[in-house]
Amino acid sequence: MVSKWTIAASFVSYYTFILYPTTSALTPASLPLFTNVGRSRCYNSPKDKNGEGNSNMSDVKRILVTGANSGIGLALTKQLVADYGCHVYLGSRDAVRGANAVDEVKKFSGKDDGVELLTIDVSNEASVQAAAASLSRKLGSSEDHKNKLYAIVNNAGTGLSHGTSISEVLDTNVRGPRRVVDNFLPLLDPNVGRIINVGSGSGPNFVHDYLTNPREKSRYVGPMDRDEIEEEILKVEKMNDSYAAYAGSKALLACYTMSLARQHPNLSTAILTPGYIKTNMTKGGGATKLPRDGTVSLRKCLFDDLNHMSGYFWGSDGLRSPLHYLRNPGEPEYDGEAPTF
Ligand SMILES: NC(=O)c1ccc[n+]([C@@H]2O[C@H](COP(=O)([O-])OP(=O)(O)OC[C@H]3O[C@@H](n4cnc5c(N)ncnc54)[C@H](OP(=O)(O)O)[C@@H]3O)[C@@H](O)[C@H]2O)c1
Repeated sequence: MVSKWTIAASFVSYYTFILYPTTSALTPASLPLFTNVGRSRCYNSPKDKNGEGNSNMSDVKRILVTGANSGIGLALTKQLVADYGCHVYLGSRDAVRGANAVDEVKKFSGKDDGVELLTIDVSNEASVQAAAASLSRKLGSSEDHKNKLYAIVNNAGTGLSHGTSISEVLDTNVRGPRRVVDNFLPLLDPNVGRIINVGSGSGPNFVHDYLTNPREKSRYVGPMDRDEIEEEILKVEKMNDSYAAYAGSKALLACYTMSLARQHPNLSTAILTPGYIKTNMTKGGGATKLPRDGTVSLRKCLFDDLNHMSGYFWGSDGLRSPLHYLRNPGEPEYDGEAPTF
């Protein structure tokens, strides 16, 4: 069996991507099937720290980031507020940790009005429902897209050094983003909205190293519906291996992302890996990159034109990557060629 840190070391600088199913029936109508994609890497110009260019609050992009009180989520929030002039709803399951993070973002950005706390525990349906109701009140009832969310970033996650149980890892990392989407979808701009899921290079490792049956592997490179995902969660739980639970949760999150792309062709959806980043989750594992270095693919997926690329998996360098093996930095971008198992 492959140890968690052996695998973790192998994705020190890897990336990821998304594959599509081998049958056109499973392919979103608007999506190309295993085709080459462009390599646009031009980001929107960041706004300056005073928010220049945001003459009017209604032009500001409103973004929910879950698990934003620490690590990569907090680093992303600081950048979105300070450099991109966004308004971030900082998700935290703990009100005190969340309030401290909000203060940190305000101090970092020099802005008092770019960030608000939203208490949300993604493992708890009642908490997610209450958070969505609270945000709905803040946004108001207008149908005007300017009062809608521009993006949901499903960043909250657990596993590895957090020491959480196998069932908690699978529930938080797979069902958590689904609970958030189910409850926050009405608040998302139906025309330009984005759903960005934070996956991991461990996902492709799971498909490559833990799945031996070719039929199983091929299921994990396409969309899965709710029942299929629940079935797979049970199988991963039975492996009784905490690294497999984490890696399997991220592989299933990719299948969920592809399913969202199929269901919501007007939205841009993406799954990505931030890279191997020094945070509470990787404590003791030898990661050296700082959380602020783990936001390249997040910012790409938030601001680049993902037209016809919805549902893809993106590496930590912002390049498309495969779901059936780990693509490392410096390696060619995944060209979307259908895998054979
Ligand atoms: N660090 C890496 O190398 C790496 C690599 C690939 C993917 N990722 C992914 O990146 C994301 C962020 O992780 P990180 O590395 O930044 O670790 P982190 O600093 O430990 O952040 C994890 C965040 O998720 C929150 N969280 C955990 N369970 C939650 C729940 N049930 N409800 C709401 N929030 C919850 C944590 O809140 P508390 O502070 O309350 O615990 C924390 O804010 C995760 O999805 C992780 O899987 C990280």
